[in-house]
Amino acid sequence: MGGLLDGRTAVVTGAARGLGFAMARGFLQQGARVVVADLDKDAAATAVEELAADGQALAVACDVTDELSVAELAERASRDGAGLDVWVNNAGILRNGDMADMPLSGFRALIDVHVQGSWLGCKYAGIHIGAHGRGGSIVNISSIGGKAGLAGQTNYSTAKAAILGLTKAAAKELAPKSIRVNTILPGIMRTAMAEQLAPEDLAARLTDVPLGRIGEPHEIADAAVFLASDMSTFVTGAALEVSGGRFM
Ligand SMILES: NC(=O)c1ccc[n+]([C@@H]2O[C@H](COP(=O)([O-])OP(=O)(O)OC[C@H]3O[C@@H](n4cnc5c(N)ncnc54)[C@H](O)[C@@H]3O)[C@@H](O)[C@H]2O)c1
Repeated sequence: MGGLLDGRTAVVTGAARGLGFAMARGFLQQGARVVVADLDKDAAATAVEELAADGQALAVACDVTDELSVAELAERASRDGAGLDVWVNNAGILRNGDMADMPLSGFRALIDVHVQGSWLGCKYAGIHIGAHGRGGSIVNISSIGGKAGLAGQTNYSTAKAAILGLTKAAAKELAPKSIRVNTILPGIMRTAMAEQLAPEDLAARLTDVPLGRIGEPHEIADAAVFLASDMSTFVTGAALEVSGGRFM
């Protein structure tokens, strides 16, 4: 049986670990060629070694806050093979803290990585995916925190809410090129990012989850495969919550 992404090329930013790594694996298992893009060049190379059994992955160093770096990533990804089909804006950071104690730099850093990074990704994915004329898919990774707002995460919640607006505007702008743009809102997932939470903080947050558990990275990958593939050809501008029902 063929894979859902046979013959496609996908870029996943921040794919050296966590949810990005899981999405890279999910795409490879569905037959895509995957560019593992990350600020941490060595971790990206190690990730590609780990993914070798799943399919053809390529590590590319990229800082999503830097326009030239994102432009080069898009060019590199579309150079070989049959062009670029899928792009996931996943790279992210956390700098939690109450607003009163948060330096402006802690706010700006989140906007730079999540908002500017996703906007640059949409811009260059839109240019390169459109080039071969058969359309494609952009997936932005927001967060349930961007919908509900979380105390101690004013920077993160602001950035993730902005990604919802970006997704809808880019979906309208890129629809004439048959490029669909959607966003996933993960809940609390089992990654290094969640491990930064104090255990009592994590336990308290899990009481808000109707399904009563932390999510597994492959559950985000499954949603990303759906949005990246022809399983969702009439879905654009959508916000898909993959959160066990948290803040539904
Ligand atoms: N883990 C969760 O529970 C959760 C929940 C909701 C949303 N998210 C979102 O999912 C995405 C992935 O989260 P994760 O938990 O896998 O994070 P993670 O910290 O495990 O991985 C993030 C990756 O992004 C890379 N990165 C950071 N800054 C970068 C930059 N400027 N350019 C390129 N790469 C950069 C890091 O090197 C790292 O490999 C993030 O956008 C995050 O906000 C995560």
